[in-house]
Amino acid sequence: MSTGELIKTYFGVKFFNLKEECYVISNYYKKISFCLIDLLFHFIYLFINPYRVSKKFLKEKNEPNLHLYGETPLSTFETIIKEAKILPTNSFLELGVGRGRCSFWLSQFVGCSIQSVEWVPTFHHIASLISKIFRLKNISHCCQDMYAMNFKNTDFIFLYGTCLEDREILCLIEKFKKMDRGVKVISISFPLNDYDQEFKTIEKFPVLFPWGETECFINVY
Ligand SMILES: C[S@@+](CC[C@H](N)C(=O)[O-])C[C@H]1O[C@@H](n2cnc3c(N)ncnc32)[C@H](O)[C@@H]1O
Repeated sequence: MSTGELIKTYFGVKFFNLKEECYVISNYYKKISFCLIDLLFHFIYLFINPYRVSKKFLKEKNEPNLHLYGETPLSTFETIIKEAKILPTNSFLELGVGRGRCSFWLSQFVGCSIQSVEWVPTFHHIASLISKIFRLKNISHCCQDMYAMNFKNTDFIFLYGTCLEDREILCLIEKFKKMDRGVKVISISFPLNDYDQEFKTIEKFPVLFPWGETECFINVY
C-alpha cells in the first residue's frame, strides 16, 4: 500500500468511527441503562487500548499474526440482529466477544440470554465487572479458548472471525454440527458452506465495517 493510500485509509476509518459514535449517542443513549453502561465502558477503556491488549496477549501465545482485533460497529450489529430476527426469548452465543460492547447492546435492546466467550483475560475481567456493577442477569461471561469448548445449545451463534484460519473455522464447524440442528450461525464475510456443504445459507445481506462493506451470512446445518 502506498503512503497516500495509507493516509486515506487512516482518515477513512477515523471518519467512519466518528460518524458511528454520533449515531450511537443520538440513537442508543436515549436508553439510560445502555448510556450508563457505555459511558463506564468508554471511561475504563480511556486507559486501556484494546488493540494493544490483544496484541500483547497474542504475542505471549506466540501467535504469528498479532493484528487480529476488530469490533463490529453497533449500528451494523443492530442490522444483523434485526435481519436475524432475534427475540427476547432467544439465546445467543457470541464467540470471541472482544470488549463485549455488542453483547451489552444486545442485553439492553433485545434482552435475550447471552453467553459471551473471550480468551483475552483483560477483556473478560472488564466485561464481567461491568455486568456485575449493572447487575446484568442475562449475560454470562466465559474466559476460555473457544476451540477447547463444547458449546451448549443455543438459538444463535455470532462469529466475527474474518481473520480465522481455515483449520480454525473447520474446528468450529465440527462443534456446530454437534449442536441441535436449526442453530443459526451468523458469520461475517464467509458462508459456512464454503467449508462444509451440509450448511445452508438462509440469508445474506451487506454490512458495514470501518474497513469497508462485506456480507453477513446466516447459516443453518
Ligand atoms: C474480530 S474480534 C470480534 C469482537 C466482537 N465479536 C465484535 O464483533 O465486536 C475477535 C475476538 O475473538 C477473540 N478470539 C479469537 N480467538 C479466540 C479463541 N480461540 N477463543 C476465544 N476468543 C477468541 C479475540 O481475542 C477477539 O477479541
